[in-house]
Amino acid sequence: MITLDTVNLEIDGPTATIYFNRPDKKNAMNPQMHRDMNEALDAIEEAGGVKAVVITGNGDSFSSGMDLEECFLEPFEDPQRFYRTNLVALKWFQRLKAFPAVTIAKVNGFAFGGGFEVTGLCDLAVSSETVLFGLSEINFGIFPAGGATWAVTHNLPRKQALYYILTGDTLTGKQAEEYGLVNKAVPPDQLDAETERIVGKIVNKNPVTLELAKQVYERTTTLDLPAAIDYDQAKLWELSRLSNNEWINVALNQFKKRAYQPGLKSYERADAKS
Ligand code: COA
Repeated sequence: MITLDTVNLEIDGPTATIYFNRPDKKNAMNPQMHRDMNEALDAIEEAGGVKAVVITGNGDSFSSGMDLEECFLEPFEDPQRFYRTNLVALKWFQRLKAFPAVTIAKVNGFAFGGGFEVTGLCDLAVSSETVLFGLSEINFGIFPAGGATWAVTHNLPRKQALYYILTGDTLTGKQAEEYGLVNKAVPPDQLDAETERIVGKIVNKNPVTLELAKQVYERTTTLDLPAAIDYDQAKLWELSRLSNNEWINVALNQFKKRAYQPGLKSYERADAKS
């Protein structure tokens, strides 16, 4: 366990878990937490071999979003300080979105503003049914910024996105599942088990394939079909080379021997879980 001022980090083989750790402030993200998150992401990249990164909150809240006093109110009179303070947040939000390993938000309690955004930036998300998500920015006079509107537009249908942006109403984990903000909402006592179930699937996959699958998905959202095909064909050859043709040499050779049915399960990897 790596203990930073406001964040704890656990790396266990192919799985890293980041815990926001300001429970008495509902895990509001102050400038120190933004610095700590950059450090935690550095540590995970430096460790190498991590395939799944779970982000969650200690205590009874995922995160109540940006620390309204320390990030906005206090530095506001000094534009340079305000800019530098918030740049640290904007940096790790963008890193998280482009992170090479699979990112999974495990959401408990409250997820407002930046907490909603982090859920949306992660590749996958699991929440308890009772979580309250909200874009409370309108309730203090602004719109969701720093990538929060991006996260909303890329995770909610248009009418729902605009509804929550414009009203500041909360939505539950159950509603978040219905709209697609989280993959699954479960009773609170099943949150750990459901997250572990998903992590268990991810860590058995080839890490290069996971990383390139994410890249192809993200790029493809902005391309027309001919460009998408050009891109995915180039990436497929890159994947083959980087993985020593594992899909042919191992996976499809196992299929040739009818050792497994790819429609129903994954092939056996020599270094699965590493
Ligand atoms: N920024 C700064 N402080 C925050 C905070 C935030 N985003 N969210 C919670 N806190 C603080 C509270 O002010 C309180 O501080 P105090 O003990 O010094 O009074 C402490 O964390 C505990 O929160 P509290 O409001 O007592 O808990 P609650 O369970 O009654 O309510 C929330 C939880 C999340 C509904 C409420 O704290 C809230 O509305 N927070 C702001 C959410 C927000 O607008 N986020 C968007 C940021 S972009």
